[in-house]
Amino acid sequence: MTKIEICDTTLRDGEQTPGVHFGISQKLDIALRLEAMGVDVIEAGFPAASEGDFEAVRRVAGAVKNSVVCGLARCTKSDIDACAGALAHAAHPRIHIFIATSDIHLEHKLHIDRAEALRRIAENTAYAASLFEEVQFSAEDATRTDRDFLVKAVSCAIENGATIINIPDTVGYTTPEEFFAILSRLRHVIPAFDEGRVMLGVHCHNDLGLATANNLSAISAGAAHVECTVNGLGERAGNAPLEELVMALAVRRDAMGDGVQTGIRTWEITATSRLVASLSGVPVSPNKAIVGTNAFTHASGIHQHGVMQNRQTYEIMAPEDIGLTANTIQLGKLSGRHAFADRVRQMGYSFGEDGIDATFARFKEIADRKAVITDDDIRAILSEYLDSLEGRYRLSTFQIQSGNHIKAMALVTLADNLSLVSGEDGQIQPRQITEAAPGEGPVDAAFNAIGRIAGAENIELKSYEIRAITEGTDALGEAIVKISAGTSLFTGRGVSTDIIKASIKAYLNAINKWDKARERTAPAQTEL
Ligand code: KIV
Ligand code: ZN
Repeated sequence: MTKIEICDTTLRDGEQTPGVHFGISQKLDIALRLEAMGVDVIEAGFPAASEGDFEAVRRVAGAVKNSVVCGLARCTKSDIDACAGALAHAAHPRIHIFIATSDIHLEHKLHIDRAEALRRIAENTAYAASLFEEVQFSAEDATRTDRDFLVKAVSCAIENGATIINIPDTVGYTTPEEFFAILSRLRHVIPAFDEGRVMLGVHCHNDLGLATANNLSAISAGAAHVECTVNGLGERAGNAPLEELVMALAVRRDAMGDGVQTGIRTWEITATSRLVASLSGVPVSPNKAIVGTNAFTHASGIHQHGVMQNRQTYEIMAPEDIGLTANTIQLGKLSGRHAFADRVRQMGYSFGEDGIDATFARFKEIADRKAVITDDDIRAILSEYLDSLEGRYRLSTFQIQSGNHIKAMALVTLADNLSLVSGEDGQIQPRQITEAAPGEGPVDAAFNAIGRIAGAENIELKSYEIRAITEGTDALGEAIVKISAGTSLFTGRGVSTDIIKASIKAYLNAINKWDKARERTAPAQTEL
């Protein structure tokens, strides 16, 4: 039986999805969920990228006990030192260093030749190995790297102390057959893999929609470490989705040679997918394999008839295998704090007592207006609370005037947590800032007023969507807003039974992320 090490990089590569920025408490919740799902390695971030990233990796490293916690570093001493600092208290730390090895990256991105790349690999792998027992080396853009040079780069990393070699298909370019050949050749010419001294790993992107197929092919070629993200989040078309690989291995055990298995508790997949969709603001497409809402829905009469006779006619796995079960206890306005807290924990959130108090109050407020509160409603309440912990500005009040004969006008007051003043009662409190602004409609006017308060003149609204989370006229409305500043994109989400309020909260959430990014003092050249 071969056990595949699953490395989840939702918190690092997944966060490179355009518009996605996880706050520290969000990262902690996702990390603990991944640990509960049985992920072997959690790549928690890129500590040298910013103070926020460093702190997030440090906090995840402190909280996670069973999974290995990994930090990413370029082949530079300062990046490696940042990883060592952030992972100092991890129960099982690992460093992941990388450098590009393809000529196109060496020439046009790094402006160095192959000899210099080898020198940097040797020097920095050795340095990383002096600080960490587990050193993973990635040859970025490996699948477009000259095959002989790839062997040299990988051998150099192994000679200098790498214990895991990762072969990324950085631009999602390879095919299953080609990838099989690349990996087989490495195994053939570098004995350390088959001698069990070094683990062979892969990291696939999905630009041609081949990431899962390439991962399966890599496993057939002897890869024992596979990197994925939940829901396939990641740069461009994303990374290989964790749920697809894990379920392909579970359902098609028969097709995978001598029994390949993972340590993933598959019944935790649905809760994890929903948590990540909610915290990232990137919804899962309905026809997404394994976790899409249609994955177990049968529309045609012939299919429905077949499933009623025997589910296996049209289902290759049971909904329960991925934890898709209906909750039998419905929560509503009569539910107590205990039942609410239980449901929150079942749904995979690790809220402390303060978090439960705050979200329970919001739950009660909504339950007064809505007969039944579904899990989707609760998820929206929890996500909104987690978002609010990160933000500089909080909504205090708003008033909108609009109609078919007058121009819409909004008056918005925000509390600025970074500017504290002494209140009438002598208590220190956030300064309240009020602005009025006109707009094309009520939402536009409110966004303009918020923009004035936050000094967000150069912000462009890229998209604005509103949808009902559940059915019925009392449904919670969820607004998703994307704003851009220069080349950066920020996604905000807001939830309310009032769609104007949901829109204001979503815009404010995006503005808070933009404001945080603006304040960050990132060292130069941290782009991957
Ligand atoms: O896609 C890639 O090459 C990466 C590396 C940093 C491993 O994400
Ligand atoms: Zn990647």
